[in-house]
Amino acid sequence: MKSVGRVLSVASECVPLVKTGGLADVVGALPGALGRLGWEMRVLMPAYRSLRAAAAGWTVVWVEEGLWGGTGRVLAGDVGGVQMLLLDAPHLFDREGGPYSGPAGDWPDNAQRFAALSWVAARIAREGLADGWVPQVMHVHDWQAGFAPAYLTYGGTGGVGTVMTVHNIAFQGWAPAAMMGELRLPFEEFHPGGLEYYGGLSSLKAGLVTADRITTVSPTYATELMRPEFGMGLQGVIAARAAVVSGILNGVDEAVWSPAAEVPPFSASAMKGKAAARVALCEEFGLQVPGPLAIVVSRLTDQKGIDLLPGVMPDFIEAGGGLVVLGSGDPTLEGAVRGLAQRFPGRVGLRVGYDEGLSHRMFAGGDAVLVPSRFEPCGLTQMYGLRYGCVPVVAAVGGLADTVIHANPAAISAGVATGITFHPTDGIAFGTALRQLVVLYHDKPKWARVQRNAMKQDVGWDHSAAAYAALYAEISG
Ligand code: ADP
Ligand code: GLC
Repeated sequence: MKSVGRVLSVASECVPLVKTGGLADVVGALPGALGRLGWEMRVLMPAYRSLRAAAAGWTVVWVEEGLWGGTGRVLAGDVGGVQMLLLDAPHLFDREGGPYSGPAGDWPDNAQRFAALSWVAARIAREGLADGWVPQVMHVHDWQAGFAPAYLTYGGTGGVGTVMTVHNIAFQGWAPAAMMGELRLPFEEFHPGGLEYYGGLSSLKAGLVTADRITTVSPTYATELMRPEFGMGLQGVIAARAAVVSGILNGVDEAVWSPAAEVPPFSASAMKGKAAARVALCEEFGLQVPGPLAIVVSRLTDQKGIDLLPGVMPDFIEAGGGLVVLGSGDPTLEGAVRGLAQRFPGRVGLRVGYDEGLSHRMFAGGDAVLVPSRFEPCGLTQMYGLRYGCVPVVAAVGGLADTVIHANPAAISAGVATGITFHPTDGIAFGTALRQLVVLYHDKPKWARVQRNAMKQDVGWDHSAAAYAALYAEISG
């Protein structure tokens, strides 16, 4: 397709190279989805240790001297059709561990590391790459890239438009005010309407006050963010920019998340494969479950409401239900789920760790996916659930509220119900939702209808990509 424009996407994670959460899925999916609409997107992210060997032979398209204690080189290469730009700055990124932390916890120089990513992004946006590629739009993701629109704005935009997407407001990139100079920020911008944030600095706020457009990953989260319960201190900043804030739902990669591609395959009109997958999943975990088999695939953190499981599971299991959990994170939450598995052998299974293959088998074999989040900017697993007829049972917040239609009698008879939603996120509402799940599961015609509706729902990228494309067109003049 003829190129209608060029976008520099800037993030700290991107599938298939590095992933700690849904951010990586979205950053990895956007180039393909936007490419279909003629927008040529390149993705800039750090060359972490695990990526350096693969990028060794790539073309050098930018060199930045004096990048917080060393030289940074940007290497360009193709990864599965995505044009990647890796910032190779060994003094900042060639380290043992994850993107944000090493064996001893968070890297103490995270502010400098991601300021460096943002600095190079702004320079490339303004000047273009050595191979002649010049973007019209810079699209940055979360706190790690938050200083990029600020550097671009304060140093002269060169006509480049900026979009900042908030995937999770809980991570704000805080730094002390004393770092203003070191972070190459102009002192005259240290005021409440500018960079100052509760006496310090926040790279996320810096992006929010300087980007031309702000998006978040669902319409409901966009409105929630303007309220103190969800804004986590930034509600005023976002509300002040309401005119340029919009919510654009994430999609899922329909080729990767496809019941037709599972073994055995299944579809809305041929569900035998799903029944076989359920049997296999129960065998894998040594379970025998007469009622609904629920699954959870999640980071184990407070955000995800995992701490509610011990309270609601005994009744659900008593009613015939079962549970398989795949996740890792907070050791206390891991312990709580392990306690359930020990207390209910044959009904509750747990796998601690990260396992893409198992997650597929769980969505294929599970009857329901539980997402009892306290807040959820978008959420991807409820959408995998929809695709796989693994009926979502979700807290009605953020993107969960935007993607699941509650199975009340009217919605069922209208043929639009796709799952069960509950509010507020507490044990009472969650328990009620699970009781409804059990009743619905045993009403086979209704259950089949909800599964079918879920599997028919469009959760692909096309609609959202068009919304991003419209935004890019607006700001690239
Ligand atoms: P978040 O980004 O807040 O963690 P999302 O639902 O947006 O939540 O994205 C999480 C992504 O990570 C999904 O693709 C989900 O399947 C995946 N995931 C989370 N935990 C695991 C795990 N333990 N094993 C495999 N995949 C996981
Ligand atoms: C964040 C959010 C999640 C969202 C993901 C991708 O990690 O917690 O809700 O789906 O980003 O946008």
